[in-house]
Amino acid sequence: MCGIVGAVAQRDVADILVEGLKRLEYRGYDSSGVAIINSDKQLQRLRRVGKVQALADAIAQQPLSGGTGIAHTRWATHGVPSEANAHPHISSDNIAIVHNGIIENHEKLRTQLQALGYIFTSETDTEVIAHLVHHEMKSHANLLTAVQATVKQLEGAYGTVITDKNTPEKMIVARSGSPLVIGFGLGENFIASDMMALLPVTRKFAFLEEGDVAEITRHDVNIFDTHGTPVEREAKESEVSHDAGDKGEYRHYMLKETYEQPTAIRNTLDGRFLNNKLSIDSFGKNAQAIFKDIEHVQIIACGTSYHSGMVARYWLEALSGVSCNIEIASEFRYRKSFVPKNALIVTISQSGETADTLAALRLAKELGYSASLAICNVPGSSLVRESDLAFMTKAGAEIGVASTKAFTTQLVGLLMLTLAIGAQHGMTAEQESCIIKSLMTLPNKLEEVLALAGSIEDLAEDFADKHHSLFLGRGDQYPIAMEGALKLKEISYIHAEAYAAGELKHGPLALIDAEMPVIVVAPRNDLIEKLKSNIEEVRARGGLMYVFADVDAKFASDDTMKVINVPHCDDIIAPIVYTLPLQLLSYYVAIIKGTDVDQPRNLAKSVTVE
Ligand code: F6R
Repeated sequence: MCGIVGAVAQRDVADILVEGLKRLEYRGYDSSGVAIINSDKQLQRLRRVGKVQALADAIAQQPLSGGTGIAHTRWATHGVPSEANAHPHISSDNIAIVHNGIIENHEKLRTQLQALGYIFTSETDTEVIAHLVHHEMKSHANLLTAVQATVKQLEGAYGTVITDKNTPEKMIVARSGSPLVIGFGLGENFIASDMMALLPVTRKFAFLEEGDVAEITRHDVNIFDTHGTPVEREAKESEVSHDAGDKGEYRHYMLKETYEQPTAIRNTLDGRFLNNKLSIDSFGKNAQAIFKDIEHVQIIACGTSYHSGMVARYWLEALSGVSCNIEIASEFRYRKSFVPKNALIVTISQSGETADTLAALRLAKELGYSASLAICNVPGSSLVRESDLAFMTKAGAEIGVASTKAFTTQLVGLLMLTLAIGAQHGMTAEQESCIIKSLMTLPNKLEEVLALAGSIEDLAEDFADKHHSLFLGRGDQYPIAMEGALKLKEISYIHAEAYAAGELKHGPLALIDAEMPVIVVAPRNDLIEKLKSNIEEVRARGGLMYVFADVDAKFASDDTMKVINVPHCDDIIAPIVYTLPLQLLSYYVAIIKGTDVDQPRNLAKSVTVE
């Protein structure tokens, strides 16, 4: 949510900031803005509603010079998307700030600051930080100590960057609950909410930790922890490629990322096996000892990542010899739950920064879970740093707001988790080797599935005038039906619901008519005959079905049913294989509907606020 970029350099930084914002636009895109201090110590600000391009156009008409600047792309929380609410916010023409997160005590602070004579020009919670820093400057020697005093008064979450036009040689940054990464350049330094923003200018990064405040100049970075003690944060070279943020030959990031899945899965599998056995170290140094002792797995995640956890529950309970529960993070964190003995908490997250998942992990640690494991796509993210163990998916940067390759690589990681725990709880070498063999066939199988794109595209037209749809699956395909429904509603804005097909007659059958397309995922597994009966229930009520079926399952298209034959695959990997046709379907429907595929309305990547 929201994106931050900041720079202190000798050269003009406007282009660097705008390029950084474009690379972060997937995080929030209702308005954007930039503030730059020029060589005459004047603060120049430009803000625009809408996409970052609107800001770039404004800067082209009204160029901004200067080597110190901050920029922001917004996903509105407090106050509508408008120029007045867009960041940066300024106090008394001196202090400029950008902020990600939510200041929970903003109303109280606003009243106090108004009493001191500060005039507010926006509805945002952020503006209080600008005025508070300005107020603190009156009693502090410099911007750093003023910001240190300010953050002590803030409740809630922030990643914030502050400049003062009187000291253009520096910016102050502070992190609590919303990530910030420092980028080290040659005679110039940078800050961003995601290193993706800075890849065109540097490869060397250090993540701030919770409570850190840092002073950044062209030549120095001084970091202080919550207590004001100077600390070092390790700087590392990033392996993410510069063009990870490019669409290449594809029309949308989502399509590119859908097609990247065979490679993402090859990368996720690479180097994890030795002599046809999983190397448990893929989960971290102590993984073997931890997995040996656990008797229960509690999975926590949000959205698409939650769906991968739902599949994992089927796998873990069927194969690994431990019990498993899965819960949505925003529910788990606010209820009193029972903590089973010897339980492992597993969080799943593409970004590793999702506020609810992070809060749920922290709660689980307080509650006394034996150990924690993060399945995550972003090295160095909060979830990874705060967990005992981590399995890194190697999906590469995912820019499209609708998650695709992150989901299927999570599933690969979770199947490996099933193997890893199973190996400590009685899974036979033969079972293990069978699953590994299936996993190895996966990338090629997915390439075969992607070849179905043309026939899936042909179906999309049928959805152009539809307002509702129903997705059905059974067993480990039920979460895949849920994921298909989420993708469709997210990017095409068609209302989509998913049901375990056996539940149809307990209510949803009442919805069936010719206006309600029903999408069914039908691999040839033990449940196929049961699923066929459910299909007949729909057919008998005049429903129109789209069935993604195993080529050997003997489905034929007719007036009531369009069948797309999916290549046969082993049962265990079928949830991953059947995900792709549903991703493609939602993509092509969104194209027909003309929606903004990569940046669907009201959504943002990486939900770092509650
Ligand atoms: C949907 C989607 C979201 C995320 C959810 C959790 O396509 O991407 O539902 O899955 O916001 O995000 P992470 O995985 O970053 O914790």
